[in-house]
Amino acid sequence: MADITINGLTFEPYITREMIAEQVKRVAGEIKRDCEGDNPLFLCVLNGSFVFAADLFRACDFLNAEITFIRFKSYEGTTSTGVVREIMGLNEDISGREVIIIEDIVDTGVTAKQLRDMLAEHNPKSVKMATLLYKPASLKQGSAPEYVGFEIPSKFILGYGLDLDGKCRNLPDIYVLKEQK
Ligand code: IMP
Ligand code: MG
Repeated sequence: MADITINGLTFEPYITREMIAEQVKRVAGEIKRDCEGDNPLFLCVLNGSFVFAADLFRACDFLNAEITFIRFKSYEGTTSTGVVREIMGLNEDISGREVIIIEDIVDTGVTAKQLRDMLAEHNPKSVKMATLLYKPASLKQGSAPEYVGFEIPSKFILGYGLDLDGKCRNLPDIYVLKEQK
């Protein structure tokens, strides 16, 4: 796998599609083990999570599972703005339901906290979060996600749904920003 350059920044290969597939399977197994019923509602946080959500949702083969989508935006370029804007809200009735939030990455935790606070107002039975990636050293707010694919250092990454200003979501593998020499 070769380096890629986008918007003047160079990224090197970091997590392969095979490694991702392995962790998706493990996380799905943990979710299936923990769910009490067979109809959890998966809540995919757009845009970044759509690729992970497609794989995780299919790996969680509950008979009555459902999925819905919500959209938040916090990042400009390679840093979090600290302000999370809700761009598309929740339409489903979640009262009494087991809700599993699907995130691509938990960085500062600001998005996760805001989402959990918002969901709590609608009386779900439970809310858990599954994230493909988690940067524990960057967490400033809220609690750690219940299900984590990979814990990673606080570096900017892209691919497999994660973007740099909208680009590179379609890369099947994950890349990390190279240190400037
Ligand atoms: P948080 O609110 O700071 O936890 O960040 C949440 C959102 O920022 C994630 O859902 C991503 O969309 C985006 N984000 C955080 N870190 C990265 C990264 O390394 N690459 C691309 N997007 C990121
Ligand atoms: Mg996101």
